Amino acid sequence: MCGIVGYVGGERTLGVLMGGLKRLEYRGYDSAGVAVLDPDGALGVRKKSGKLQVLADELAAHPIRDGATGIGHTRWATHGGPTDRNAHPQLGDDGRLALIHNGIIENFAELKQELLDRGAVFTSDTDSEVAALLVGEQYRETGDLTEALRRVVGRLHGAFTLLVVHSDAPGVVVGARRNSPLVIGLGEGENFLGSDVAAFVEHTRRAAEIGQDQIVTITADAVVVTDFDGVVVPMKEFDIAWDASAAEKGGWSSFMAKEISEEPEAVAKTLMGRVVDGRVLLPELDALGEDVLAGIDRITIIACGTAAYAGLVGKYAIEKWTRVPVEVALSHEFRYSDPILDGRTLVVSISQSGETMDTLMAVKYAGEQGAKTLSICNTQGSTIPRESDGVVYTHAGPEVAVASTKAFVAQITALYLFGLHLATVRGTLDDAGLAAQLAELQAVPGKLATVLENGPEIRQLARWMTDTQSVLFLGRHVGYPIALEGALKLKELAYIHAEGFAAGELKHGPIALIEPGQVVFVIVPSPRDAGGLQKKVLSNIQEIKARGARVIAIVEAGDVSVLPFVDEAIRIPLAAPLFEPLLAVAPLHIFGMELAAAKGLDVDQPRNLAKSVTVE
Ligand code: F6R
Repeated sequence: MCGIVGYVGGERTLGVLMGGLKRLEYRGYDSAGVAVLDPDGALGVRKKSGKLQVLADELAAHPIRDGATGIGHTRWATHGGPTDRNAHPQLGDDGRLALIHNGIIENFAELKQELLDRGAVFTSDTDSEVAALLVGEQYRETGDLTEALRRVVGRLHGAFTLLVVHSDAPGVVVGARRNSPLVIGLGEGENFLGSDVAAFVEHTRRAAEIGQDQIVTITADAVVVTDFDGVVVPMKEFDIAWDASAAEKGGWSSFMAKEISEEPEAVAKTLMGRVVDGRVLLPELDALGEDVLAGIDRITIIACGTAAYAGLVGKYAIEKWTRVPVEVALSHEFRYSDPILDGRTLVVSISQSGETMDTLMAVKYAGEQGAKTLSICNTQGSTIPRESDGVVYTHAGPEVAVASTKAFVAQITALYLFGLHLATVRGTLDDAGLAAQLAELQAVPGKLATVLENGPEIRQLARWMTDTQSVLFLGRHVGYPIALEGALKLKELAYIHAEGFAAGELKHGPIALIEPGQVVFVIVPSPRDAGGLQKKVLSNIQEIKARGARVIAIVEAGDVSVLPFVDEAIRIPLAAPLFEPLLAVAPLHIFGMELAAAKGLDVDQPRNLAKSVTVE
């Protein structure tokens, strides 16, 4: 949550900060602010509640002088409501120091009392102001901004990224991180800090990671990283794999529209270079250690939200191909359930951002208990891969819309690659079986592109439904997580009550919700499904039709058996049952987006949400 950007270089700081904040706005958008040191060392600060545009308007109405050093922040409120005074930067040392913060300082109440006892005056309700005042005190004592921050971070409990500037230290930005994201952008005669690389990718594609409990000091020509004890540590540099245009709308009405259109590409890029001569090539898995994959006796997938639904889809495939038991746990429940973990357990985390705090904590816990940890992640330089034994990156490209779409299909693709690789290692799938599954997987991008052609039809459907109060989603087997995903998208984008159910569960209670006119999406299994699930789902459809439901079916092209019983049918191409979710989800993504758009809502930045949930 909260986006952070810092810059030292030429006298174009305001532009760099506002451009960076624009790209980070998906992380939080209830208020924003900047602090810039002008050439005379005066600190210009502007901050406003509301989206970034409100801050831009404020800067136009009440400009500040540009300079060569500054920090900027876009907020997702935790302590204190989204007001001007709670917006960041927070100030210390009589307004000479500015600080921005992402995370939560858990012991802020006792630190605040200590400061109040010393006569400090607070001007906000935030926990962050405590840090600003403490660093200000330490700066007065030491005259060294890095040392001042170091002394304070040792006293803070919780998760934080902090950036500070001081009017006595022109040309310097100091940052610290614990369990919250921060990456370095390396330029020529300028350097950057950001919550993620999107903050500075338009200026440089050279980046470096900062580890946990480390402090970074940037000037125009130097970057120094130390640990919390002041010992210099090496930086791990990497090249950003995409350019700024990938994080732009490129003519689409919203980032979400663009990202849904990129679903086929997200699958194709995640597959690229990983299927060679009929085998899965994932050298990344070597980092887990020799023979680990051959020796594991169970897999636990941990994730939140949409990523957890990708995990649920993956479970069916991995168990079928490898016969290794797979359980899927929500990251925030996982470590409180006293999970059974040992050296033969592989814990696979899934995270688009690589920063979700619940998942990060679960990964750390699993590692401490002796389990091997593998991360499936979309964001280079992020924390969860760093804390894992191995990582398989999804290559969906930057996902800017807050609600996840293209990352979901990329996550399933990565899980399938992993499952097929594991099946090869363990000898549970013969060459012909492997070849058949790989052929299905490689056909997905092309088929998905044809699914997207249904867009106008789904938009029409959504436009008729702007007054709908409640929508239900039913699926079975791999269709069940897709029902959950369809319902989540509708809740978060269109603010409509929505529930996803396993179709077989309907008769055990939820059928009581059906009344005349109730809209129900049903993901219909293929008639070629060996388990005969299609017939059972057809019975479910008839049960709800009999009670007046309006049924919209997602159904395989050519399957006419359902048509007499449904009100609308959205077609998807033929695929083997395990691959249907990769095709069935796009219509639901489009539906959620179009219904939200038809209601006049902001589909990229739904209310109350943030893309990267870096608090527990
Ligand atoms: C829903 C959505 C969220 C995320 C969840 C995990 O559209 O985007 O449910 O999937 O917050 O986020 P990551 O994948 O970044 O760990």
